[in-house]
Amino acid sequence: MGNGHIFLIGFMGAGKSSAARAIRNKYGMDYIEMDQQIEDEAGMSVSEIFKRIGEEEFRRMETELIRSLADKEFLVISCGGGVPVRKENVEEMRRQGTVVYLTASPETVFERVRGRHHRPLLEGNMNVDYISGLMDKRREAYEAAADVRVSTEGKTVREIADEIMNLAGAVRERQESDELEQERLYGLD
Ligand code: S3P
Repeated sequence: MGNGHIFLIGFMGAGKSSAARAIRNKYGMDYIEMDQQIEDEAGMSVSEIFKRIGEEEFRRMETELIRSLADKEFLVISCGGGVPVRKENVEEMRRQGTVVYLTASPETVFERVRGRHHRPLLEGNMNVDYISGLMDKRREAYEAAADVRVSTEGKTVREIADEIMNLAGAVRERQESDELEQERLYGLD
């Protein structure tokens, strides 16, 4: 709830950016691509940031960007794949909105990312085994962060966008009625 944002999380190649663009196009929500925003602010690509100032600094920039979204409302945010690994990011996302976990198999991810070379973690690791291993390491963090989960396998991007919006709407309604119930029981403070 909070600011009404929808955060799309999940592994690289899970379909976060395509889904965010489809939600913008069909539902008119403004959309933020975290990697793009960080690149614009740093004046260099994510690969250059990793190489020149290091992954730790990139992770700090992600946290700063997520915190800054507390001043905005009703955005759909395509998060970098590593965002849910930091506890403070998860707490902030859950405070600000609904967290939707997009999933795809390692094989599908591989097919989607294999021709692209802007992801430093996959350079030299462009194979199903590496993808599968890193996905296993992160699964628990993704699951713990998520309000709802959407598989992107075998669906059109419009179907994925509709599913996200329906589920996020249901989560929001449930949270709103929980809040009303809390107020009814305990009053406003
Ligand atoms: C990363 C995912 C990338 C990008 C960076 C690190 C990760 O974003 O933030 O290369 O740690 O999983 P996408 O998930 O949008 O590819």
